[in-house]
Amino acid sequence: MSLQNTAVAPIDREYEITIVRFFTIMAVIWGIVGMSLGVFIASQLAWPALNFDIPWLTFSRLRPLHTNAVIFAFGGCALFATSYYIVQRTCKTRLFAPYLAWFTFWGWQAVIVAAVITLPLGLTSSKEYAELEWPIDILIALVWISYAIVFFGTLIKRKTSHIYVANWFFAAFIITIALLHIVNSMAIPISAFKSYSLFGGATDAMVQWWYGHNAVGFYLTAAFLGMMYYFVPVQIGRPIYSYRLSIVHFWALIASYMWAGGHHLHYSALPDWTQSLAMVFSIIL
Ligand code: HEM
Repeated sequence: MSLQNTAVAPIDREYEITIVRFFTIMAVIWGIVGMSLGVFIASQLAWPALNFDIPWLTFSRLRPLHTNAVIFAFGGCALFATSYYIVQRTCKTRLFAPYLAWFTFWGWQAVIVAAVITLPLGLTSSKEYAELEWPIDILIALVWISYAIVFFGTLIKRKTSHIYVANWFFAAFIITIALLHIVNSMAIPISAFKSYSLFGGATDAMVQWWYGHNAVGFYLTAAFLGMMYYFVPVQIGRPIYSYRLSIVHFWALIASYMWAGGHHLHYSALPDWTQSLAMVFSIIL
């Protein structure tokens, strides 16, 4: 008990740690839910009868629930937790706007619960990794903008002169996901749970795969690299082998990723030059 007090109490006083703990616990819980769903849909691929002829349990409805649960619920909570932890430790300051940070926690959980309800009901925009319908998209945008205010506010009030490389990766992730989500989700609602994309035909496909490709690039790659640039050196007790290379790494990834999304649409109605551009940047990447 006394060990716990000495180990935990000072950091609690110095930084906003409860929110980091809440996001971490939810990452574990959503990880179990999302991966169990993965096991279930994998079993359905082997034994299709496992949908029991119930529409809510069909592969088509549970597959997007699996991808949303593992990427946005499990991965998202892990990224909120680690970015809030790392930005405070490396900037030697508490989180900016802690109440807004708590809004990001509860808002994000509400988004996930809404996904758990609406996707099995078959309510979907049918855009991969962006299946959630427009009211939920608006909530995602509000949470994300709040996240940006908390993160960049903390960077601004930092007590260090330098911005550690992990924060560069998190910053790129937060800005890019806001841009991708808001542009790709632009739609005209026709009812409370149905909307049609603002874009049509090949343009819609291009915007969707600009989003889908960069969601992997910035959500599942850049942000997790941010996590690693902090925790790997801390775990092994040594500084980064070449800090200069980490900055080259950052700019190389950020500058080339954005252009490669068109490779999801080769030999499609997309103009040839966009396909060539995507191909060249994919090779560079
Ligand atoms: C117990 C662990 C997991 C199992 C059993 C599992 C199972 C599956 C299955 C069966 C599919 C559908 C494949 C298809 O449509 O043919 C799938 C898709 C997918 N899963 Fe998982 N999954 C697991 C964990 C994860 C994790 C941890 C992530 C990411 C954080 C993830 C991300 C995805 C993505 C992105 C897809 C779509 C892939 C694509 O369309 O190419 N999964 N998973």
